[in-house]
Amino acid sequence: MSATSDWQSHRDDDGIQWLILDKAGTDTNVLSVGVLEELAGLLDQLEADLPRAVVFRSGKAKGFIAGADVNEFLEVKSTQEALIMIKRGQKLFSRIAALSCPTVAMIEGFCMGGGTELALACDYRVALDDSSTRIGLPEVKLGIHPAYGGLVRSTAIINPLQSLEMMLTGRALSARAARSMGLVDSVQPRRQIERAVRKTVMSPPQRQHMPVLGKILSLPGVRSLLAEYMKKQVAKKAPRQHYPAPYAILDVWANYYGNEKRMMEEEANSVARLIQGDKVRNLIRVFFLQTRLKGLGDRKSFVPRHVHVIGGGIMGGDIAAWCALRGFTVTLQDREAKYLGQAFARANKLFGKRLKLTTERNAALDRLIPDINGDGVARADVIIEAIFEDIDAKQAIYRDLEARMKPEAVLATNTSSIPLETLATVLRQPERLVGIHFFNPVAMMPLVEIVKSASTSERTIQQAIAFTQHIGKLPLPVRSSPGFLVNRILMPYLVEAFTLYDEGVAAEAIDKAATDFGMPMGPVELADTVGLDICLSVAQNLSAAFGITVPGGLQRFIDAKHFGKKSGRGFYRYKNGKPIRDKDVDLGDQKAIQKRLIYRFLNESAACLQEAIVEDRDLLDAGIIFGTGFAPFRGGPMHYSLSEGIDGLVASMTEFEASLGDRFKPSPGWDLLKE
Ligand code: NAI
Repeated sequence: MSATSDWQSHRDDDGIQWLILDKAGTDTNVLSVGVLEELAGLLDQLEADLPRAVVFRSGKAKGFIAGADVNEFLEVKSTQEALIMIKRGQKLFSRIAALSCPTVAMIEGFCMGGGTELALACDYRVALDDSSTRIGLPEVKLGIHPAYGGLVRSTAIINPLQSLEMMLTGRALSARAARSMGLVDSVQPRRQIERAVRKTVMSPPQRQHMPVLGKILSLPGVRSLLAEYMKKQVAKKAPRQHYPAPYAILDVWANYYGNEKRMMEEEANSVARLIQGDKVRNLIRVFFLQTRLKGLGDRKSFVPRHVHVIGGGIMGGDIAAWCALRGFTVTLQDREAKYLGQAFARANKLFGKRLKLTTERNAALDRLIPDINGDGVARADVIIEAIFEDIDAKQAIYRDLEARMKPEAVLATNTSSIPLETLATVLRQPERLVGIHFFNPVAMMPLVEIVKSASTSERTIQQAIAFTQHIGKLPLPVRSSPGFLVNRILMPYLVEAFTLYDEGVAAEAIDKAATDFGMPMGPVELADTVGLDICLSVAQNLSAAFGITVPGGLQRFIDAKHFGKKSGRGFYRYKNGKPIRDKDVDLGDQKAIQKRLIYRFLNESAACLQEAIVEDRDLLDAGIIFGTGFAPFRGGPMHYSLSEGIDGLVASMTEFEASLGDRFKPSPGWDLLKE
């Protein structure tokens, strides 16, 4: 037995060498430079004195290896430095692949990025059959791709449609899904996994190899056609100018597959090029922001089991379904049974999409219980009110609830615009009311605003945060103020788009300016998707609070009953749920349009910072990226503003103020960022 600081290594009676990674000082294994250097030393010993077999496993309570140490990416100063780092990793993993004894990766829990690449360098991979096992190559989410031989080795044994799809999307797979595509050799229950690993090395089975279809798809002519097709698919979601990594994956594969040595080199060169520049840094920033939100609160401090939702409409129905999907018992109340039909139909669809097994789907449906009489109130740990936006109706409900709720239960409202202080006036204990503000569509939107009013108690806020963590959403604590954070910042940007439209700029030109900046969807299409009636009511609400002028054009759409996508017509006409765009429109002065849209967005962000709607600027960036999809590779509105230079932005906004009006007057919030 020998132990370095991160690895333990011992040879058992059968001659099997167990290399156990237990990185010191952390509960998650990452492949830092130190970890890899120690591994190199261990490999020196093994090469000199070959064991019967080598098994890699984790010494942590959960998880195999989470990937490379992304902090180290930030220290890379040049392409040359990046290349040295990557080649060192490649060489190490190639030494594992070249060991002349059987090698196995025993995967329990998550196995990501570099962890999966290490596993791919082994002869065999045996994974724990448990929902905690997630295997993937998610590098693309950080703007890069696998570089320690992962691109070469995954496309060598797995049908490229599946291996490339996994890398292009960064999607993590369950153990069974990984087994069915040939990424792992066998899937074992906990009680048997060690025995299965032992058996694998004592009498090695045939190794994974490319299925026939995969071989055909990898033939030179077919390969380039497939790569071109996949690039077109990628382009629908991730334009090359902003997201070069998926295209680089396809280029390396299409151009060099079949020549392993050359493909390795190009895999390294490609990532060394990608890792330079701000995009990767900003995407790493987003990764850390997400980690920060995931770490808020203490999920152990409040472990709810039963959620009661009142109002089974668009939001309430989907919130209830989401909570049931995540394992909660959910009672769903509405005025009459007829209002719940659609909610259950949508829940059924969600379960069908997200849950593979019929037993799991049935169990989720069993957890979602219609409850017209509201009997669930007395048992619920969390009560979420999501009835329509009406003060009297909401207050009537709270009056009735308060006496029937469990004393420690949380009372939450999903209101978008009514001040919590107003709603809470009817409560004997107003400190129990908190906003848990979901976004539409609930299943797709990762963020939830936790709204605290002056009367909400700290305990309630902490309970709401813990609950949000339990349902797998990202909580963002915000102060109760009109529009909270996300809608408040979105609205001036949308209103600017409506103003441009009223001035005669084509919807297509407005949307293009925004998507070229990196927004996932242009503001005009976004408004159509949300529903123009909802947009108008939120805009009117906020205009009262912040003096925003809502252009008249929006009202004309409502008068004509053109509500957007849901009615088949809004700013755009819709066919099969997709906007019909005119390709020949005059795009106008795209730079000026983009500035007008983005300045409104940034200026409102600065105002929110100044008014302390969120605690700090990182939380503001996190909220806006996860709540609106704001160009993640720009690192968030505040980070982007700082990188552009505050003085220059403010000067430019001042010019806009002179030519276009007060709405561009720089917020005093900018001074906070100058310091
Ligand atoms: P909706 O109109 O689709 O659903 C409201 C539901 O509440 C209806 O099914 C109605 O029958 C039910 N309801 C009304 N009074 C009731 C009562 N006394 N008891 C039981 N059920 C009752 O409305 P939606 O869009 O789901 O909005 C609900 C809440 O969520 C509102 O406060 C809204 O501001 C907020 N919200 C809406 C978003 C959206 O995009 N629609 C986004 C975020 C929040």
